[in-house]
Amino acid sequence: MSMDALTIDLLDPDQFVSGRHHDMFAWLRANDPVHWHQTGAGAGFWALTTYDDVAAAYNDHAVFSSQGGAMLGGSFRNEADTAAGRMLVASDPPRHRMLRQQIHRAFAQQTVHLIGAKVAELVDAALERARADGGCDFATQIATELPAAALMTITGVSYAQAHELIGLTRKMIGFQDPLLVDTTDDDRLRLGEIQGEIFDIFADLVRERRAKPGDDLVSILLGSEINGRPWPEEDILYNCLNVAVGGDETSSYTACTGLLAFIENPAQQALLRADQGLMDSAINEMLRWSSTNAYVQRVVTQDVTVRGKDFSRGDHVTLWNASANRDEKQFPAADRFDIQRTPNRHLSYGQGIHRCIGAMVAQIELSVLFKRLFSGDLGFRVAGEITRLRSNFILGITGMPIEFTAVEPA
Ligand code: HEM
Repeated sequence: MSMDALTIDLLDPDQFVSGRHHDMFAWLRANDPVHWHQTGAGAGFWALTTYDDVAAAYNDHAVFSSQGGAMLGGSFRNEADTAAGRMLVASDPPRHRMLRQQIHRAFAQQTVHLIGAKVAELVDAALERARADGGCDFATQIATELPAAALMTITGVSYAQAHELIGLTRKMIGFQDPLLVDTTDDDRLRLGEIQGEIFDIFADLVRERRAKPGDDLVSILLGSEINGRPWPEEDILYNCLNVAVGGDETSSYTACTGLLAFIENPAQQALLRADQGLMDSAINEMLRWSSTNAYVQRVVTQDVTVRGKDFSRGDHVTLWNASANRDEKQFPAADRFDIQRTPNRHLSYGQGIHRCIGAMVAQIELSVLFKRLFSGDLGFRVAGEITRLRSNFILGITGMPIEFTAVEPA
């Protein structure tokens, strides 16, 4: 596509909602792979779009710091309210290593198994209800059961609380989406209010667990120390928020984009139905295909040159998973959904020290779900308008009405 027909605007959610971002990134990879996005006089950020550059930046955490948070502009209430160095995703070594060691204990193998069992229970019940109704909104009635199962198991909250939290994190991530929030007021105010509500829920949980500890995330953090001192309560809240935001939208949106890819590619669906041994490879392709976490942000700690472009200390840099995952140099026929793709070293979970701590959780959630969707005699048809999240950060489907059909022959 020619440059004339393209608008290069990495901040415009419409580019992503419409799917035009794929053309935009193809152009950038070919013509301006290390792109400067100007946002005002002397202000802007760099965008890395090739697979090699994105992977290299992930792996060089000394130069590309996480302290500015993963999202451009930050997601915090005000300048004083900063998660830098306190929230796992917004910290650098050595602090990051200490936080990760403790938080990792809430993601043990045993917990992952329990999450799988919970997903099976919740998805079976949701499918049963949907079958009785002849269909459902897959995005809101089935996909959200994945993070509900994870939250219930990791933090010990009830089903109702899990869905309350999912509603709130969905608004936080969707803070630019008029279908989810009132976008007429100030972004920061709105984010502050939502974050406050999430903190209130977790603060109650901290009180409960102080009185009666269990084996959940909050109890683990309450019972551990950093540098010989107990965790400050605010830091516990920030990291509960990190786990909730990290897990609530990503796996459920990936499930929606994945199911849609299978509906649009019936031969691939037939392959998976015929051989569920392809599940892991199919999940990797769904992750690559959806690139649900479109980019992460880093801040440069020292002057550095990337492909001849000079980055200065303090510059903001975006690492575009959504572009790297479609880089033809790494993924031949990158625009083809191919569940047998090998190798498939997608960057959807990031890479390096911040690589997604919930990756095993997401894998089990998605494999239990798709095993259920594709092992019976149920087929799926999109039965109405698909609604996409208005965001350039998380790419997702917030509404996808489906009807059940007989399984389509391939
Ligand atoms: C399809 C599902 C998922 C995707 C695509 C995804 C994506 C990512 C990515 C790209 C990062 C790296 C961020 C960075 O480098 O700045 C990350 C980190 C993280 N994810 Fe996930 N994630 C998924 C599922 C989950 C789940 C299920 C949880 C929790 C239950 C979770 C919690 C986290 C946390 C806490 C981090 C921070 C890790 C660190 O900074 O060391 N994620 N995720």
